[in-house]
Amino acid sequence: MERQVIITADGSSTIHLPDWNEQYHSKHGAIQEAYHVFIHHGLHRCYRLRGTHDPKISILEIGFGTGLNAWITLLEAKTLNITIDYVGVEAYPVPMEEVLQLNYPEILNADDGANTFKTLHRLSWEAHHDISSHFSLTKQKKFFKEIDDENTYHLIYFDAFGARVQPELWTESIFKRMFHALKDQGVLVTYSAKGSVRRAMQNVGFTVEKLPGPPGKREMLCASKPIS
Ligand SMILES: C[S@@+](CC[C@H](N)C(=O)[O-])C[C@H]1O[C@@H](n2cnc3c(N)ncnc32)[C@H](O)[C@@H]1O
Repeated sequence: MERQVIITADGSSTIHLPDWNEQYHSKHGAIQEAYHVFIHHGLHRCYRLRGTHDPKISILEIGFGTGLNAWITLLEAKTLNITIDYVGVEAYPVPMEEVLQLNYPEILNADDGANTFKTLHRLSWEAHHDISSHFSLTKQKKFFKEIDDENTYHLIYFDAFGARVQPELWTESIFKRMFHALKDQGVLVTYSAKGSVRRAMQNVGFTVEKLPGPPGKREMLCASKPIS
């Protein structure tokens, strides 16, 4: 499939798939969307829920992709002074020549000279890596339908391609896996606000809330796992 690195409305890059007319992030701003959906409504919410008594948060990302979500989470872990154990699942890793074209370090002006963003991509798959005292990463190369973790994560970043192009990833069978993977009171956030997605989440046991969406989207979803 053809792939093109493009610039989104906030100046940050993403990867465009012309055959699907789909992007790895919103055309209205890749970095803006990532911060809005995953950091503000995901990580910050989880941080507030867990309180400062146990500032250790485990995160599962559905679609490691460009590594943008992982990298801004690493940056935020340092700011919040918390420890994050991050697992990114991805079946089709982004090739290094594309990673090198992504402008996130320049736009955020946040890389510490150690090229951490690129390092995340160079790390071996299926191994646990301590990146800093605040952040560890395990990249798992597999399909989402193979995820069978139980009671493991506080937070899920659900960042699959849209239901228009990959409807099979927004089904009850996938959300059941997400439900089991979360700990009690765990939270899943996603940019999607589709009614069929919300109903699939509710049918597997989630309590679902609509939240204001990032630029270009009216709403997004936040699904919480009740105490069993
Ligand atoms: C919207 S992009 C993820 C963007 C990513 N979170 C980021 O920050 O760049 C969706 C990702 O899911 C991956 N993917 C698509 N189908 C998959 C599947 N069935 N199992 C695992 N990964 C899949 C794609 O290769 C792509 O990297």
